[in-house]
Amino acid sequence: MTSASGAQPPASASGSQSSDSASGSQWSGSGSGSQSSGSAPGPAGRAAPEEAAGGARPDGATDTRKFAASSLAAGDATGWFERLYAEAQDGRATVPWDVAAASVNLREFPLPPGEGRRALVVGCGPGRDAEHLAALGYAVTAFDISPTAIALARERHPGSPVDYRVADLLDPPADWHRTFDLVLESNNVQALPTEIRARAIAVVGEFVAPGGTLLVLAAAATDAPGEGPPWPLTRAEIDAFAAPGLRQLAVEEVPAPDSRLVVRWRAVFTR
Ligand SMILES: C[S@@+](CC[C@H](N)C(=O)[O-])C[C@H]1O[C@@H](n2cnc3c(N)ncnc32)[C@H](O)[C@@H]1O
Repeated sequence: MTSASGAQPPASASGSQSSDSASGSQWSGSGSGSQSSGSAPGPAGRAAPEEAAGGARPDGATDTRKFAASSLAAGDATGWFERLYAEAQDGRATVPWDVAAASVNLREFPLPPGEGRRALVVGCGPGRDAEHLAALGYAVTAFDISPTAIALARERHPGSPVDYRVADLLDPPADWHRTFDLVLESNNVQALPTEIRARAIAVVGEFVAPGGTLLVLAAAATDAPGEGPPWPLTRAEIDAFAAPGLRQLAVEEVPAPDSRLVVRWRAVFTR
């Protein structure tokens, strides 16, 4: 396994657009695997990153960097997500993580059947991972800061048992405190800049109920980080998820051979 270390996200996205053909799979996990039984189709004709030829999704990578750069330059760390989703709805942009399949490192993680246990999906986007957990029997609440993403999730999954909500990770409903048996944080913190990142990591852990589980999936920082977003997580950032009274059970470095970023974290915590 490649040792993960090093790179930190910038405090602002003042950098220029990437000139490389960054893979969309760095956002959403990579590798082969079957579709989740809970996955509904993504946008028409949209292949999952792992299915796309060469994994190349330069359109989406360029869009995210363009939107992130202008938002962060204006001092708004998260406003670009709504703008990106809204522009994509109108066909003027591509959301690189908006694919049909649930994250491969979630699909391949040996979760027990939900049996009605409460799960929270952080930054759920249009709902691919939330639907996967619902299909496993979890009572899922899934939230995103983008109203367009949540509208899309509801539209894509009519009749879904998932409770989709518009909410801000940095100002969550008080009754979510230490409430959930399973919390999934997948690919969100890596999209946040330095100034709010530590706070976001701390809040995620506070959703976990006593005896509950936190699963963190993210790109891993290496010695050759490239341009973001995403800004892959260091090992220290992964360890920081334990700060609000959690115990680290496992931290894996999972190869992501068709991603520019090569390695991903899969980390498990409990309270
Ligand atoms: C890189 S995307 C990943 C989406 C999803 N987890 C996936 O893997 O398909 C990050 C998501 O986090 C959401 N997000 C960003 N900041 C947020 C915040 N403060 N609170 C809630 N959601 C947020 C964005 O709108 C976006 O849908």
